[in-house]
This record gives sequence, C-alpha cells and structure tokens, in this order.
Amino acid sequence: MPNAIVQFPKGFLWGTATASHQVEGNNTNNNWYQWENIPGKIKNGDKSGAACDWWGGRWREDLDRAQETGQNAHRLSVEWSRIQPKPDVWDDSAIERYRAMLQGMLDRGIRPMVTLHHFSNPIWFEDISGWENEKAPELFDSFIRRVVPALMEYTDLWVTINEPNVYAYSGFVTGEFPPGKRDLKLAFQVMLSLIKGHALAYQSIHQAQPAAKVGLAINYRSFFPATSSPLDKWVAKTQAGSFNDLFPSVATYGTARFLNKKVNIPQAANTQDFIGLNYYSRDRVSFDVTKPMNLFGRVYYPKDADLSPTGFIANEPDGFYEGLKWSARFNLPIFVTENGVEDEADRLRPRYLALHVHKLWRAVNYNWPILGYFHWSLIDNFEWDRGWSQRFGLWGLDLATGRRIRRRSVDLYAEICKANGLSSAMVEKFCPEARQRIFPD
Ligand code: FCB
Repeated sequence: MPNAIVQFPKGFLWGTATASHQVEGNNTNNNWYQWENIPGKIKNGDKSGAACDWWGGRWREDLDRAQETGQNAHRLSVEWSRIQPKPDVWDDSAIERYRAMLQGMLDRGIRPMVTLHHFSNPIWFEDISGWENEKAPELFDSFIRRVVPALMEYTDLWVTINEPNVYAYSGFVTGEFPPGKRDLKLAFQVMLSLIKGHALAYQSIHQAQPAAKVGLAINYRSFFPATSSPLDKWVAKTQAGSFNDLFPSVATYGTARFLNKKVNIPQAANTQDFIGLNYYSRDRVSFDVTKPMNLFGRVYYPKDADLSPTGFIANEPDGFYEGLKWSARFNLPIFVTENGVEDEADRLRPRYLALHVHKLWRAVNYNWPILGYFHWSLIDNFEWDRGWSQRFGLWGLDLATGRRIRRRSVDLYAEICKANGLSSAMVEKFCPEARQRIFPD
C-alpha cells in the first residue's frame, strides 16, 4: 500500500495551548486559588500547587520539548493577578517574566499567541463582584492598556478572553467554577459584561498595535438532536444559539438574539480579526421539561460513544468539522485555539488526534481560511474543578516529582508537525484502528 499523505498549506501553525493558572504554579492571588481552598469545590480536594512550575522557570524545558517535536506556535495566557496584584499596584517583574517567556518562544522558532484572560481573576477584582460589576469592562481594559504595549514586540496574535461562554455558564449556571452561582439572569449580565470588556480591549490593542490580530476563543459544542422530534431539534438549536453563537455574533454584528432577548452592543461590531475555535466534543440533546436551568435540554453522550477515561469527552470528529464550518461563516481567518482529550494512558489520544487532524484537513481543502491548530495541551496541567484527575498533556506530569512523561502521542504529533500533514503510515503506526476512517481502501 503506498503511503498516502494529506498535506496542509505552507506556513500552517502547529502548536499547543496552555493557560497561566493551569501551568505556572503558585498563583495565590486569584479567584481560583480561593476556590481551591474551599472544601468540596475541586475534585479530590486537589490544588494547583506548583503545577508545571512554569513560574519557577520550567517553561524553558517544556518549550524545548515543543521545539524539538516540530511545533512552531504556542498559545499561552498571562495572569492578570500577577501583573496587577492590587488595583493600584503593577508588578513590572511579572511582566519581565512574560517577556522572557515570549522571547524564549521566538528563540525556539515558536510563534506566540497570547490570551489576556483565561478564567482567572485577581482577588481584588473578584472582591468587587468581578464581571458582575458594571465597571468590569473598563477595569479589564486598563489591564490591557498596560500589558499589551509591554508584550507587543513579541506577538501580534491576541485572544482577549478565553471561552467567555464557559466562564458564564460554569460560574453562573452550573456553579462549578467560581463564583459558584446558579442564576440565569446573572449569567446573562456577565455575558454582556464580558463582551463589552472584549470590545474595549479590541480597540485598545489596535490603538497600541494597528496590525494586531485579535479574537475570542469560543468553546464550540456540537449539539446534536437525539431524535428527529421537533422538540429535540428545537432544544438543540436553542442550546447552540445561546452557547455557541452569542459571543461571535455580537462581536461581528454588534447584535444577536439570546433566547427571547435582543442583545444590542453596537460598539462590539467588527471586533474580531479571527475566530478562535476551541472544540472538544459533541452532545446529544433531548427535550427535558425538568431542566429549566439547562434551557430544557438533557445533554448526554450516546451509549456507544468512544469516551475518554473519565467520560468527559466523546471522540466525535464530525462535531469538529461542524464547528469549523460554523467558524467559516463569519468570513474571518480561523485558528483552532484548543482541541484535545484527557487520557492519562494515551490509548484514545492518538486516534482522537489523527481523526481530528483529518477533519481539519478536509475543512482546509474547502478553502476555509484556517491558519493553525493548537493542541490542548503541551503537558498535563491543573484542570480547574476536575483538578488533576484529567490529563490532557502530550507529556504527562508526575506531580510528586515534577518529572515529564513522554506519551506516544508526542511522537505522532511531532510527525504531523514536521510533515505538515498526516500520512497513512502515521495512522498505521499510532492508531491502526482509525485507518479505514481516514484512509479507506
Ligand atoms: C477548556 C479550557 C482549558 C482546558 C480545556 C480542557 O474549556 O479553555 O483551559 O481546561 O478546556
């Protein structure tokens, strides 16, 4: 059998993504640190602790790993609570450390993408009700005005806010994230506040750096009606409309419909230079009258799903393709800002990766302007309310010793990055069970 290869365009970015609170360690001045210290909030009582010790300098060796395995981009986030520890205190030494990290990426031929808010808030900001406070957008914007000019010599790729939809949903609907509220009205208010913060940040970044490329990273869930009944279809559409569409629509048109409300934030129109797509999985959705907080949707994975070890993710590459198609309708360049699976034993990850890269290639070949792919994640890191129970890294992390553990997926991803494509030989070697789905005879 000849070796077939599906090839990506020249200059395609292949990287990994991380976030400050998840990898740095010793972040003790943000809302997640507080949350970790409330019993019962984090699975098994886990704490982020030293995490991957990037703040202590181990980013260097992890970036060496990224470079040696062919990655040419990395998405990281900066920690607001380190840079602005108090409303009137700015810590230039923290900025210096980020400058060193970004320079370290450039030295290794790794193009940085910088996220400016990835779930964590400084304690002082949380103390004044965080994004519920109507001053939040301006407060966030003053951070942006400080940090962007200090870092812009290293990058022109910025994500203002990571997954504002997850931030609002998990913090204000399910209550699994801080501040742990369950109040749809408040969730809506926080969404508006986040989008206003994004819009201000967009303008400030462009003022500082006219050529900047600025976007949001949206967590796209594919909501698939469980049956063809009109109610299931309606509920799947409602879920998708509120979870997926709201932020990018407002950031495109300045307006959107959210449930029965019309959202009008004209200053947010045209505040995206690219779509940042975070995709993990697809849900089945059926109408369930007992679930008003979930907009009457029961959301689940089918019994025969190809599930990750903790059941968090089903391997559904068709949902990824749907997400890419959805992204393309905004007529902007697209980055896959996150995609990956928790899998400590690395049994599922190779086929998850190969199947998703294959769908990515199909989408690229429809001429949808996809510029890069950031796998989540480079190394196991602190997985929010699920603590250390979920391992998303290409490299594993031994928590007790800080030792890095090379998983087989490292080698598969390295081959993909280096070839700028996916071949049948790679699939045969790393996940032969996916061969017929990717390269059918
Ligand atoms: C996303 C988050 C990221 C990581 C992955 C698994 O929702 O943006 O920080 O936790 O899920």
